[in-house]
Amino acid sequence: MIEDETTTSSSSPTEPPDGRVTVDVHLGPGELDQALRHDVSTGLTGNPKELPPKWFYDEQGSALFDKITRLSEYYQTEAERSILGDRATELIELVQADTIVELGSGTSDKTRTVLDEATSTGHLTRFVPFDVSEEFLRDAAHMLATRYPRLNVHGVVGDFDRHLHHIPAGGRRLIMLLGGTIGNYPPVERRRFLSEIVAGMQPGDHFLVGVDLVKDPARIELAYNDPSGVTEAFNKNVLGVINRNLGADFDLDTFSHIAHFDPEHEWIEILLQSDHDQRVTIEELDLVVDFAAGERMRTEISAKFRRERLDAELADVGLESVAWWPDANNDFAVSVAVRPPA
Ligand code: AVJ
Repeated sequence: MIEDETTTSSSSPTEPPDGRVTVDVHLGPGELDQALRHDVSTGLTGNPKELPPKWFYDEQGSALFDKITRLSEYYQTEAERSILGDRATELIELVQADTIVELGSGTSDKTRTVLDEATSTGHLTRFVPFDVSEEFLRDAAHMLATRYPRLNVHGVVGDFDRHLHHIPAGGRRLIMLLGGTIGNYPPVERRRFLSEIVAGMQPGDHFLVGVDLVKDPARIELAYNDPSGVTEAFNKNVLGVINRNLGADFDLDTFSHIAHFDPEHEWIEILLQSDHDQRVTIEELDLVVDFAAGERMRTEISAKFRRERLDAELADVGLESVAWWPDANNDFAVSVAVRPPA
């Protein structure tokens, strides 16, 4: 996705043969690359050093994440899939949406159960996948338009920290944020992000969010320390992203993967620890960075939730919880909230 700089216009609707697919591009050429440069220079010159999790997902990182979702230790994906499958009918009845928006849509894999229901028993006319990768989004949009022959698919390419206001208005909407993605935001940023979502909602619009739940720390830690080492490779890949895109010389073998649950904040923290003193050069930033033996750099937090806390956070931004659907094991939950009439 970072290499994808072929875009030339800031908004380029496309007309495929069936005419039901539109893609608006709000990430200009080089914008992602600029953002990476900014985050890497800020993150590696700060103390402590840190890197934001959004840079995990280049082509290799996305493939590794896909592998994570199929690990038996990583219960989240299957749990969320089963909830959506079990509750699709109830959800569609509850929200009465003619438009579904999916933030961070990827291939909209888990969403298809909901779309199946919404197009057969509901009155869905429009699906709005929102994703940072134009290439992924175009493929997914065409695939979905083919699968749902009466659905208009209006893709939006953007960064959901900056382009949420480009989500098309109109109709009664359901906005979905799946996969526990919301857990990547620390509390202050999470509140800001949620307020931005709500700012674009009309009274009667619904918001659906999937959250991983607080549970035995050992199980959470195992999900991020799988013995097969996929999560380790996923974590270290962020250094590979910097090597490939900014000409850096990180030696991935000299960093160790660490994931530990922080019971005070109720989040799991994912870090990379330098095995020894070393110097890394990031050529394209003209930057030299020293790591001390044992120095730790945070690459991600993944917050775990309880119902009361999520409801309170939703209420804080003006949303009223209307459904709480945990899976059979109480590992993961899907929450639905509405923007009440003014
Ligand atoms: C995609 C952000 C929800 O936090 O569990 C998986 C990413 N990181 N293993 C998560 C992730 C390490 C994942 N989210």
